[in-house]
Amino acid sequence: MDTSTALRTNGAARDFTDDVVPRATIHDLLDDARFAPSGGNRQPWRVAVVEDRAIRRRIGDLMQPVWDGYIARGRLGVTPYNVVDDVEPDDVPHATNALVDGIEDVPVVLAVAADLRRIAMMDSAVGRPPVTGGASIYPFCWSILLAARARGLGGVLTTFLSRAEPAAAPELGLPEHHALVATIFLGVPRRQVTKLRREPVESFTTVDRFDGPAFSG
Ligand SMILES: Cc1cc2nc3c(=O)[nH]c(=O)nc-3n(C[C@H](O)[C@H](O)[C@H](O)COP(=O)(O)O)c2cc1C
Repeated sequence: MDTSTALRTNGAARDFTDDVVPRATIHDLLDDARFAPSGGNRQPWRVAVVEDRAIRRRIGDLMQPVWDGYIARGRLGVTPYNVVDDVEPDDVPHATNALVDGIEDVPVVLAVAADLRRIAMMDSAVGRPPVTGGASIYPFCWSILLAARARGLGGVLTTFLSRAEPAAAPELGLPEHHALVATIFLGVPRRQVTKLRREPVESFTTVDRFDGPAFSG
């Protein structure tokens, strides 16, 4: 598969067959993903391949209330947990999440952490929550998903466990000064979505300034 096709068709997969993904395959896709860029090439990533069913259940239990809150906030018309205009819902009912319910049986669960001592957080002092540090870790995460696709696997990057980081940290042995940045689920997808809904270039690209004229190729 050429790179452009891979980029345009790597849809999120959350439903997997029972096919076992051998450890050797997990190793191989991490071996590809390690070539991802990071600030200063400091490669701040750590990965825990979470195999233990009891640990999986416990982190699933930590994800569930975050998911409930995500859905409840979404119903109120905001981007859940955004740092600008998030709202606190009065009622947070249980919201079913098949991935969480079946976390013990997902073929591969990867917890990804980032060593904050190895990340130059360039926007840490501009008066809003910093985001640039993510750029040293999420290309690695995305590369895992692309490397998985190259092997006939599919998956999804999730961040709901990050909201429960203080409780998840002891379950996963998260080292000091590390952030829990993602939980990645992988397997052989029952259905690989390849026709993705994304906004066109013209909708987000302008010339010279963000308030400049629309860019067209
Ligand atoms: C930063 C980030 C966080 C995400 N968190 C979750 C999550 O918590 N749960 C989940 O099911 N999917 C999660 N996703 C997957 C997105 O929902 C998915 O990439 C998006 O809806 C596009 O889906 P598509 O590729 O099928 O079009 C996340 C994706 C990203 C990049």
